[in-house]
Amino acid sequence: MEHSLSPVIFNSTFQKLSLNRSYLPVDVRKNQLKNAVDAARTLGFDGFNVTMPHKTSILELVDRLDDVAKKGGTVNTVARVGQRLVGYSTDGEGALRAIKSYGFEPGDKNILVIGAGGAARAVVHRLSARHNSIRILNRSLDKAKRVAEILNGRGGASYGRLTRKNLLASIPGASLLVNATPVQTEKILSKLAIPPQNLREIDWVFDLAYDEFSDPLPIKSGRISPLEMLVHQAALSFEIWLRKPAPLALMRSSLTDHLGRDWK
Ligand SMILES: NC(=O)c1ccc[n+]([C@@H]2O[C@H](COP(=O)([O-])OP(=O)(O)OC[C@H]3O[C@@H](n4cnc5c(N)ncnc54)[C@H](OP(=O)(O)O)[C@@H]3O)[C@@H](O)[C@H]2O)c1
Repeated sequence: MEHSLSPVIFNSTFQKLSLNRSYLPVDVRKNQLKNAVDAARTLGFDGFNVTMPHKTSILELVDRLDDVAKKGGTVNTVARVGQRLVGYSTDGEGALRAIKSYGFEPGDKNILVIGAGGAARAVVHRLSARHNSIRILNRSLDKAKRVAEILNGRGGASYGRLTRKNLLASIPGASLLVNATPVQTEKILSKLAIPPQNLREIDWVFDLAYDEFSDPLPIKSGRISPLEMLVHQAALSFEIWLRKPAPLALMRSSLTDHLGRDWK
């Protein structure tokens, strides 16, 4: 759902700044990514965003990777620099800026991450710090292991399968829960027969996936909005493509105007 909100943010911002640019949503099937990238080259696009399920397959289709994208093993923003396509990852920094905008500093806190796809890789890589620990739980264990491995000894990282027992054991002591799956936290808890009250010691719950119908959690944990992350990572993409500071407030208001509400 949030994918369809990016054109709103960019096109409205371009228009308000009288920039002769447009941002087009394009559906690309798994087996057509190479054709789509070739087309973007041929048509001379300034850049594009990449969403799931293409964030890792794009790695081998660009000419160069920025350091963050290389270390996290995922790309969500591609920019044309001369004749070359360069891959960047703004998900991790976007998530960090969103988290900090709620006054939470993750540097020395225990963080629990559910999911181990492209977004989880970027977020885990960016949130890991010398004095915090990150635990990753995922349906498929091999992917959780691979995400833990990108930290390669930096900070404390552990992983496990997403099961009722593991989730219940991982909640105590965690200050932030990042849910990097497309499924809302309430649904994951319900599927594992865990009452939401079990999250009450967690300060912040951060679902990366946008669901306009999600209710507030029946506990006092705060909710970090995926829309806050969407705006921050869009601002980072804007800076990569246009090589100038992003008008964050304008980008934010483009989305609040469109939705008819704020999320903070
Ligand atoms: N707010 C934002 O700005 C923003 C930015 C980036 C991403 N996102 C959102 O974050 C979500 C994840 O994106 P992604 O790129 O990381 O996707 P991805 O690479 O496809 O990874 C999805 C992850 O979710 C897990 N998963 C999928 N369905 C599940 C289920 N029913 N129960 C438990 N786990 C499940 C997968 O587990 P397996 O490994 O076992 O398949 C995998 O670890 C998407 O909804 C995306 O739209 C939001």
